[in-house]
Amino acid sequence: MEKSSGKKNTAILISGRGSNLRSLIKYAKKKKSLIRIVLVVSDNFSAKGLNYANKSKINNIVLKYSNRESFENRLLKSLKINNVDLICLAGFMKILSGSFIKKFKNPILNIHPSLLPKYKGLNTHNRAIQNKDKYSGATVHIVNKKLDSGKIILQKKVKILKSDSEKSLEKKVLKIEHKIYPKAIIKLLASD
Ligand code: GRF
Repeated sequence: MEKSSGKKNTAILISGRGSNLRSLIKYAKKKKSLIRIVLVVSDNFSAKGLNYANKSKINNIVLKYSNRESFENRLLKSLKINNVDLICLAGFMKILSGSFIKKFKNPILNIHPSLLPKYKGLNTHNRAIQNKDKYSGATVHIVNKKLDSGKIILQKKVKILKSDSEKSLEKKVLKIEHKIYPKAIIKLLASD
């Protein structure tokens, strides 16, 4: 049997910087990776992350977000055309509807910069510092119709130091994100 035949066709959805996309591209290029990135979708024309897709010659599209229904219909079409088996949200700033999740049928993963269920939504680092938490971290979870609430696949902690600012904490957590996203994919797909 051909070794790469088990790879899942994966779409990465982004809205901005794309550092998690970059780490997933790096992982996908490994011989033993379990995914093949067949599509990158951005809802934002000026997302920096698109440069990583272009550099690696990965098929990428921008879908303008005027309203959710139209966006999701166009997205579903592109996913179907590209035979996508797995979606990874990587800094994608729009919320996907329950109806989209149902129609797509395959798993959708998201990475979130907090120790879920703590700090769903935005400004996670600031909230962790304000609350004088001892730890923060990152979580990869399955996307369901409730924001940042699906089954947790993998989570990793970092210590919050007294000297940490929102920026330094973001940097530390991001470093962890880049490590755990590929690991979470392996964990999810290994149980397939
Ligand atoms: C990351 O912190 C991710 O956890 C959150 O949005 C940020 C995206 O960063 N969902 P990048 O675009 O991957 O650099």
